[in-house]
Order: sequence, then C-alpha cells, then structure tokens
Amino acid sequence: MGAKVIMLASGKGGTGKSTVSVMLGGALAARGERVLLVELDSGLRSVDLISGVYGKTVYDIEDVLSGRCSAEKAVVESPLYSDLYVISAPYSGGTVRPSALAAFISTVGEAFEYILLDTAAGMGAPFISALSVAQLALIVVTPDPITVRDGRIVADTIAEKGRANLRLILNKVPTTLDGTGIANLDECIDTVSARLIGVIPQSDDIMRAAVNGSRIPAKSKAAKAFNAVAARLCGRETPLVIK
Ligand SMILES: Nc1ncnc2c1ncn2[C@@H]1O[C@H](COP(=O)(O)OP(=O)(O)OP(=O)(O)O)[C@@H](O)[C@H]1O
Ligand SMILES: [Mg+2]
Repeated sequence: MGAKVIMLASGKGGTGKSTVSVMLGGALAARGERVLLVELDSGLRSVDLISGVYGKTVYDIEDVLSGRCSAEKAVVESPLYSDLYVISAPYSGGTVRPSALAAFISTVGEAFEYILLDTAAGMGAPFISALSVAQLALIVVTPDPITVRDGRIVADTIAEKGRANLRLILNKVPTTLDGTGIANLDECIDTVSARLIGVIPQSDDIMRAAVNGSRIPAKSKAAKAFNAVAARLCGRETPLVIK
C-alpha cells in the first residue's frame, strides 16, 4: 500500500507546524504506526530540537536526495517518541525538488505507515515539493485574523494546485476559547474553509518541552489533543475538544 503522505502548511510563520509534526507523529507512533517525519524547512530547523534528535543527525534530507547517503543512514529514531523516525532539513540552503522528493517517498514508503512533511511557512519551494506528493494537507492556524486569512490563501492554493485533501488544525487555542465559547473558532473554520481535525490548546507543557527538549507529559491536555488528532487520522471518531 505505501505510506500515507501528510504535509503540514501555514501562511504565517510560527503557527506550530513543526511542533504539531513532531507531537502528532509521536501520537501516531504511540498507536503502533511507523512514522517518518521529514523536515523540509532548510535553514530554520526546529524539528531536531522538538523531537530530541538534535546532535544525533549526521546526514539530512538533501544528502539523501542527492545520493550522498542512503535513507537508512539519515533516518534517526526520536529518543522521546519511539517509532517516530526523523530526517532533518539541511542547516542552510538546499532546495528539495519535487521529483527527488517523490522518488525518495516511493523508495521508503513501504517501510512506514505515515510520512509527515513539515514545510516552511508560505508557499515557497518546500510547500511546492510537499504538495506534489501529499495525499493530505494539514493547515495549521492560530485563532487570530491575520493567520487565519493567510491560512485561507494556502488552503485555496492547495485545493487549486494539489490533489491533497485538506484538514484544519487550530493551534494555540486559549483555554477560554476551547470550550463552549466556540464562536470565534467557528469563524476561523469558516474563513479557512477546511474541515477541522484538531484543536490544540495554548499549552505551557508544549513550551516547556520545547525549551527542555523533553516529551510533553502524557496527561497534559495538549498530549490528549494530539492523541485525538491521531485517532481521527486513523479513522476513529473522537471528540475535537478535550475537556
Ligand atoms: N499549542 C502551543 N502552545 C504553546 N506554545 C506553542 C504551541 N504550539 C507551538 N508553540 C510554540 O510556538 C513556537 C513556534 O512553533 P513552531 O516552531 O512549531 O512553529 P512553525 O509553524 O513550525 O514555525 P515556522 O513557520 O518558523 O516553521 C515555538 O516556540 C513553540 O514551542
Ligand atoms: Mg517550523
């Protein structure tokens, strides 16, 4: 069958694509899925820190795509989330061409159930390459008007140019908004015009994990929210809002 390829995208930077990539990848892996996370955001790496592979990677995705090393050599298992495998972006420069990415995915696709592609904000080269291979695009937005409007532009581009299905993840949702006062969130969903698959709360646990290079506690609301998205991706109906 081959892996399901999922890209993460946003219009604005800093909405949480890399954080969601790692934590959703970890949640899928905890369900017994083998997950490969490929970071395509050259020069602005962060997946290595969040997934705990910082300092453990020797090769990056460009080394693999240019044939300088095999995929096995570049893939590193996250010490924080077992069964989550990571390939980092280059420290600087380098463009991942769509044809090279497609060839790579057909080579490694049988070894994984999910391949997550963490792109850079906007619609530059990482976005274009990911879009050429993705079956599903997760648009990550935070509940503020500018981010949401830019999310819509990205969503429209995906609908026009790609063959990926679209889903929306609302991230950094203040806890006062994630319960009954949901009107504001409805507006976000309407504006982006994509089906909602996850609501991730604004979370001190996520911030602490990023600073310390540690896992988020399994009991945290944020961890439960990522588990719910993972369950929905695996076809299970779960509540969107974690109380
Ligand atoms: N739900 C959340 N609660 C609190 N902090 C968060 C949450 N999600 C992400 N963050 C923080 O927001 C910052 C940006 O997150 P991240 O790097 O994942 O965004 P990004 O969309 O990948 O950014 P870029 O566009 O630069 O690639 C980080 O400091 C991260 O720890
Ligand atoms: Mg990022």
